[in-house]
Amino acid sequence: MPETMEIKIHELNTEEFIKVKSEEISKLVRQGLAINALSGGVDSSVVTMLGHRALGGRLKTYFIDNGIMRKDEPQEIASIFRTLGVNVEIVDAKDRFFKALRGITDPEEKRESITQTFYKDVFAGLVRESKAKYLLQGTILTDIDETVAGIKRQHNVFEQLGIDPQEAFGYKIIEPLVQLRKDGVRKLAQALGLPESIYNRMPFPGPALAARIIGEVTPEKIEIVRSATVILEEELKGSRAFQYLAILHNDRVTGMRNGKRDFGMQIEIRSWDSLDARKAMPTNISFDKLNLLSNRIVTEVAGVVSVTYNIASKPPSTMEAI
Ligand code: XMP
Repeated sequence: MPETMEIKIHELNTEEFIKVKSEEISKLVRQGLAINALSGGVDSSVVTMLGHRALGGRLKTYFIDNGIMRKDEPQEIASIFRTLGVNVEIVDAKDRFFKALRGITDPEEKRESITQTFYKDVFAGLVRESKAKYLLQGTILTDIDETVAGIKRQHNVFEQLGIDPQEAFGYKIIEPLVQLRKDGVRKLAQALGLPESIYNRMPFPGPALAARIIGEVTPEKIEIVRSATVILEEELKGSRAFQYLAILHNDRVTGMRNGKRDFGMQIEIRSWDSLDARKAMPTNISFDKLNLLSNRIVTEVAGVVSVTYNIASKPPSTMEAI
């Protein structure tokens, strides 16, 4: 299929690509409306800018607040796009996601529940309300590769799994970035005038902080991972790691606090060196830095008594926990 033929970074002419894709989007949507969900990741940000160029106000952009994003992320992203002239509506869907995730412990079921809630419940509702026929989406070639290979089901891949979005959810999906990998998307982001906090943004998974909780996802556990993530991002900012993250384990361990037994929680830190996320090595973080991270986490995140650093490579590890 010509649309899925890879465009390598050295072959990518950003101005030409932006022109061709904007025209394609205009032609498909015609006088109608399209909608898209912005997460602030580089892929959905680029799609938002492409769609905005092609359709202007006929693209409605939503930030779905699923309750599992990082601290203040919805507001920060909406404000970045506001300064670029793109209106982003934040949709509060926290309760719907937490309800859907209740009682689920299996990793793939968790991903599936987030996907279904996102596309079938929240998004389908927005499509109905807005009367949009098209959904613009930032699927890239790597998402398709990993899903088809059965490694991890990326939450935005359908067609390659034999799912017809029109039939399943009631709308058509336009995927302008399927020929690109992350490096190409970052180059486009820069060409589209997005700020560095977006074009160099650390990867963050679709299932968000839920990908970093082993076992059931609850608002309380999300709050713990979220607080640990703030610390990690503050302390490792500027490091050259590809990605760093905090994981909350399901098992508790005996600790002690104020001379008393405290059967507490465990946070695992991961930090990865990688070129394209297909293979990764743990970052060589100094012991002093690990110590600082650990001290801050056990002091600032209530209930955590153990902090570990993952030293296995991918494969056989994967970067996220689920
Ligand atoms: P894994 O855990 O598969 O992660 O080694 C590789 C890279 O992909 C990100 N990731 C995802 N990104 N939807 C996404 O958009 C997903 O479902 C998803 N799962 C993992 C992960 O953060 C890492 O950068």
